[in-house]
Amino acid sequence: MTYSRVVSTGSYLPKRVVTNDELAQTVDTSDEWIVERTGISQRHVAADDETGSSMAIEAAKRAMADAPFDASEIDCIIVGCCTSGQLFPSVACKVQEALGIPECICFDVAAACAGFIFALETVDTYIKAGKVRKAIVIGSELMTRVLNYEDRTTCVLFGDGAGAVVLEASDEMGIHSTHCHADGSYASILNATGFQKDVVNPLVHMEGREVFKLAVNKMGNLVEEVLEANNLEKADIDWLIPHQANSRIIASIAKKLDMPMSRVVQTVKHHANTSSASVPLALDHGVRSGQIRRGDKLLLEAFGSGLAWGAALITY
Ligand code: ACO
Repeated sequence: MTYSRVVSTGSYLPKRVVTNDELAQTVDTSDEWIVERTGISQRHVAADDETGSSMAIEAAKRAMADAPFDASEIDCIIVGCCTSGQLFPSVACKVQEALGIPECICFDVAAACAGFIFALETVDTYIKAGKVRKAIVIGSELMTRVLNYEDRTTCVLFGDGAGAVVLEASDEMGIHSTHCHADGSYASILNATGFQKDVVNPLVHMEGREVFKLAVNKMGNLVEEVLEANNLEKADIDWLIPHQANSRIIASIAKKLDMPMSRVVQTVKHHANTSSASVPLALDHGVRSGQIRRGDKLLLEAFGSGLAWGAALITY
């Protein structure tokens, strides 16, 4: 049996940091409100010359710097990205070109905040089928460029960044299982439309309370699905690496797993919600900070527009 093993991770955050207090100078909000409702204190904001693609390239370079093989051996790149800065070509093709990777499978997936998990499932399926041996999976989003700054309930929630994971085929168990779901009937409560004739201006619209309730419910069910599929007990999970949208949603999922917050990787305070980048950014943070060690069992999960949601169980 062939499995996908995580070889290395990398991430990129733009230099500029915008605190809640700075945001409150132009938006009718306060540090107190944002921290209490979301756990967010600051977010990174891309410079004018940065794009979803340029951040993906940086994250991929950093992940490849720690891989024990050359980028020329990569035979698949899949990127979760909805805010690349160009309609086409794909971000994956931009990464391929920037890293000097020869002809291989390259494409993007559009699953909003769940994009990284959907990309991971696709690569894992390719690797298990013997179609791919070495791959890069990326989540990259430039959310601050698609926010409606007249809508204080959403514009305070997001930040920019990218995270990447290098995977390779292995006899050792890496990814145990992936679980992807979507339900398009909820599209109206979380979307970024705005591609009209003469005006291309997609902005995020979110009915926060509805999304909050659904996130808690769907994520709770998903955690049970993962445990059941792998015949595991809650105590078998070493680290929860959740989508970093809201610290209250994260706490509710940890509670469902009877998991102390000390075993949850949390970056929402510093990164805010970076959509598809949030899970690989948190994973890279957990690895580089020394929290996550080889052999640990990780439960990754994400939830976002579609609605689309998913999880992966990984032995790191
Ligand atoms: N600053 C100050 N006050 C605010 C702000 C703000 N930024 N935003 C809203 N308020 C006010 C509202 O006007 C309202 O005032 P009122 O009671 O006088 O009418 C009050 O605060 C409460 O507003 P709610 O929207 O009900 O606040 P809630 O507690 O639901 O928190 C939040 C809002 C943080 C958005 C929450 O609902 C949430 O986190 N939802 C989930 C978001 C999420 O997880 N998204 C996931 C995926 S994102 C993606 O896929 C792109």
